[in-house]
Amino acid sequence: MIVAANLKTNLTRAQSDSYIKELGKFLDQKSITQDVFVFPATSSLNSHATKINVGAQNAYPAECGAFTGEIGLVHLSEFGIKTILIGHSERRHILGETQDEIAKKYEFYKSHGFQIIYCIGEPLEVRQAGNAALMEYLSAQYDGIDTSYEKLIIAYEPVWAIGTGLTPTLEDIESLHAALKEKSTAPLLYGGSVKVSNAKEVMALRSVDGVLVGSAALYREHFETMISYAQELEQEKQ
Ligand code: 13P
Repeated sequence: MIVAANLKTNLTRAQSDSYIKELGKFLDQKSITQDVFVFPATSSLNSHATKINVGAQNAYPAECGAFTGEIGLVHLSEFGIKTILIGHSERRHILGETQDEIAKKYEFYKSHGFQIIYCIGEPLEVRQAGNAALMEYLSAQYDGIDTSYEKLIIAYEPVWAIGTGLTPTLEDIESLHAALKEKSTAPLLYGGSVKVSNAKEVMALRSVDGVLVGSAALYREHFETMISYAQELEQEKQ
């Protein structure tokens, strides 16, 4: 199971270092065998001797250059970062990233062998427009994306469920994930208001390979509880 924390624009560098250090201790103490990812803010990127996969929330598709306000491959390589989140809805909708720009970023970091967590998800009006509109919208988010890339993980995050406390029903998550699995065999995460109270039932769904957690992961103990649930679920399956 894959359990990922997107810390977004939260926690300082010192807080992020401490979060990752303490979380690493937890994974060792509990002999956790799940794949755990943490995406700290850009200014909190650092090298960590840990089995946690620490990734970047964003970077520009270039080694370096004149791209004011961005970081490039060299800045990730400095800290040994080989994982990146691409296509998050906050970058699509707040920062205005287009599918074309997202696809270029994907190709660049793919060509450098990065593990990519690629996010897709629809706004509420698309969900309300019915299943055909929903699938058409989501399909457009696969444009220019090599879905057979072996280091790809996809995260389905409905925009209306992010940070709102709202989630699709378990039946809706399962049926949508099953439909998305026809487009790519990459592991498929669910994200959007995942918290301690619903993480286990979401992760127990057949077509869910893990979760991408925002706000609830800011409480390290909550994130650890979700990781424990993932471990329990895998043990129950064996
Ligand atoms: P929340 O868990 O706060 O809804 O955020 C989800 C998310 O955007 C993770 O990338």
